Amino acid sequence: MIPLSIPEMTGKELFYIKECLDSGWVSSAGPHVKLFEDRFKDYIGAKYAVATVNCTSALHLALMCIGVREDDEVIVPSLTFAATVNAIRYLGAEPVFVDVCRDSYCMEPHKLEELIGEKTKAIMPVHLYGQTVEMECVMEIANKYGLKVVEDAAQSLGSKYKGMSTGTIGHAGCFSFNGNKLITTGSGGMLVTDDEEIASRALYLSTQAKDLNHKGAFYHNDVGYNYRMSNINAAVGLGQLEDIERRIQIKKSISDLYYKHLTGVDNIVLPVKKTYCDTVFWLYPILVKYGAKYDRTSLEEKFCQSGIETRTFFTPLHLMPPYVSHRHGDLENTEYISMLGLNLPSSIGIGDDEIIKVCRILRHE
Ligand SMILES: Cc1ncc(COP(=O)(O)O)c(C=O)c1O
Repeated sequence: MIPLSIPEMTGKELFYIKECLDSGWVSSAGPHVKLFEDRFKDYIGAKYAVATVNCTSALHLALMCIGVREDDEVIVPSLTFAATVNAIRYLGAEPVFVDVCRDSYCMEPHKLEELIGEKTKAIMPVHLYGQTVEMECVMEIANKYGLKVVEDAAQSLGSKYKGMSTGTIGHAGCFSFNGNKLITTGSGGMLVTDDEEIASRALYLSTQAKDLNHKGAFYHNDVGYNYRMSNINAAVGLGQLEDIERRIQIKKSISDLYYKHLTGVDNIVLPVKKTYCDTVFWLYPILVKYGAKYDRTSLEEKFCQSGIETRTFFTPLHLMPPYVSHRHGDLENTEYISMLGLNLPSSIGIGDDEIIKVCRILRHE
């Protein structure tokens, strides 16, 4: 079996977990959480980081802290995981779906302006599969209209756009440490920002909005959330983060090998390399051309029979019951790419021989 993306624990994860168990600090008030936040923010190049139970909660907090309220509109791609859009809906705000680019599979900034209206409050770019959104254009438009930007960088840890880490370009950015990501904490997320107010409010709301300055114990000025990462999860994260550079190099050699063995192969389209992006593919994404002899479904079956796990791209959210009624622009590229996209195995532990086996199937050898 060649899995799509599985975790690898090879660093000091157990050492840090033992520190938690020995000290009794297992929940979110423990010291490893702050240590993980400090190391993560330094690594990524942000002023502040707030560790959360998962990325979905980080996105929810980020939108709350930039001021998204009921009935506001947030522009977001339809080609993403449901969590991105659910975070908008938790606030009673409305997602407005924008199309993606044919080459990056990410938000098409040139289709943003036509969707901006009176109720628009924010833009949520998603760096899909590790590829980067054209953030310079997005920020230009956001600044022109006074909008806030929350980057969903759940899948793009390590990727850089024009020298800047994804997640650090907008007003806030959110990462996922789910088991299948570049680094994992089991379950976990991180909100990063350079804005002190966003960071302190996110921390406050993530800890049940407990007023630490109030003389009486357990005094709450707002409805808060139990969104703070636990010390044990942070301990795993510390071990994983120490290993991040090696992991990035492995991810890059995985995509290099796919490019090497798949360039020129009929009926598939490889992701476009952009000189100004330093891309760390979380999963290696290809498109299987429409009308090809082996279409995506028959390739999936072939992979499955050979014990190789692949994953089709996301089904566009605007086609599913909870999101079908929301406003959107033309989503031609979204529907096209979603129909043809297939992610190839990309675990840190994958062997070169396994990548070559995957490529041989695509080359029909
Ligand atoms: C694009 C995107 N956004 C958000 C999330 C949510 O992350 P989590 O599972 O950590 O809540 C994911 C998870 O994979 C994701 O892929």
